[in-house]
Amino acid sequence: PGAAPTAMRRVLPADMVERGRCPFDPPPGLRQRRGQGAVQPLRLLNGAQAWLVTGFDEARTVLADARFSADRVRHREATQLQPHEVAEMAAKETYEPPPSVESREDGLFVFMDPPEHTRLRRLLTGQFTVRRMRALEARITEIAVEHIEAMKAAGTEADLVPAFALPLPSLVICEMLGVDYADRAEFQERTAIALNTGTGKEERAQAGAELYAFIQRLVADKRARPADDMLSGLVHDADPPLTDAQLVDMALVLLGAGHETTANMLGLGTFALLEHPEQLAALRADPTLIDNTVEELLRFLTIIQLGVSRVTTEPVTLGEVDIPAGATVVIATPETNRDPRYWPEPDRLDLQRPRTPHLAFGHGVHQCLGQQLARVEMRIGLGELFTRLPDLRLAVPADKVPLRNEMLIFGVHSLPVAWS
Ligand code: HEM
Repeated sequence: PGAAPTAMRRVLPADMVERGRCPFDPPPGLRQRRGQGAVQPLRLLNGAQAWLVTGFDEARTVLADARFSADRVRHREATQLQPHEVAEMAAKETYEPPPSVESREDGLFVFMDPPEHTRLRRLLTGQFTVRRMRALEARITEIAVEHIEAMKAAGTEADLVPAFALPLPSLVICEMLGVDYADRAEFQERTAIALNTGTGKEERAQAGAELYAFIQRLVADKRARPADDMLSGLVHDADPPLTDAQLVDMALVLLGAGHETTANMLGLGTFALLEHPEQLAALRADPTLIDNTVEELLRFLTIIQLGVSRVTTEPVTLGEVDIPAGATVVIATPETNRDPRYWPEPDRLDLQRPRTPHLAFGHGVHQCLGQQLARVEMRIGLGELFTRLPDLRLAVPADKVPLRNEMLIFGVHSLPVAWS
């Protein structure tokens, strides 16, 4: 998820991007296209011809086929977006380093194709060791419990987003990057402002520049004093070594990809469970349903709605449809995850559904490399939340919960909740 796909939003019809009356269902423009073919032509708002994939099998084919490129320059050309439009959109949503910083695409492997992509991705997956994941799991539990207990100590109402959903993934990323305890408040504050669209443009740019400088200092620190964290691992394990710019980019990829995604799954996931009381009751009656709950929420909510897109490098026939070279192919992930060929009654949230693969984490060489971590954060986060606050409820009517409709990563801006 990042700048090039974000820019796509500008050229997609609003009804395909904004959810309708039900915040848990795919945008109405996407649902309308259900049944109109697994691969459909799609006219972008600026006139460019693109293709929309709504079928699960067809989407997997695209994401596993090297003829569909993730390269951001190709994206720009295919969507006929001007560079300033891309920059504007990126600045609106994802973190954008200050323009003075050169070679800033050095380590952004999300927007690379193999073989460049392969080396950088492998370096990072090499850092997700079983031992580190275990240690993180223990820390995630501590972080979740600490924040829920702080909410309880402060009263009987809170906004779950700043009190719980955002700090949890943010602190997990601090652990991964090895940010010192003393610096965490600064890191969290800068990140929250730099990534948040609620704040003004200038304030965000300022926080973005500070965050970039913060990560540059962090990289220098890990070079001088390596510790047992992923960033130190990246500094010292890579052969040939990564440049400082690449290391900063890698840290930013983790931050950008692992922060808002998990936070929104925690926020929107809680909202969805509270609005499906019979499902929540089933989970409460049988806590072993938690893994299924996480998987079903990922499928049902599919918060990265249209962020997974590719560009053809040559003419391709997909299904029955001929797609020319240089065309944008947008995966309608929320629809692919409700493909009735795989999920009976796909529009129902059903925690007891047998688990089948879904596309909430993508597929193929770019498939989410933080997915196990995201699952653990959701399992522990939601598990502790509903155990420690057994009568958790919404503090406002459901239609008053502010939705992130203008954002690439869907979710809630805030979630006022109460308990006794
Ligand atoms: C890639 C979703 C959490 C790191 C992706 C992609 C999706 C996704 C759909 C594929 C994008 C594409 O193919 O164009 C999610 C969701 C999350 C989540 C829904 C939370 C529930 C995380 C976390 C981390 C992370 C916690 C790391 C700490 C990454 C990275 C990539 C990625 C590095 C790029 C991989 C590549 O290009 O090779 N994610 N993600 N994600 N994700 Fe996640």
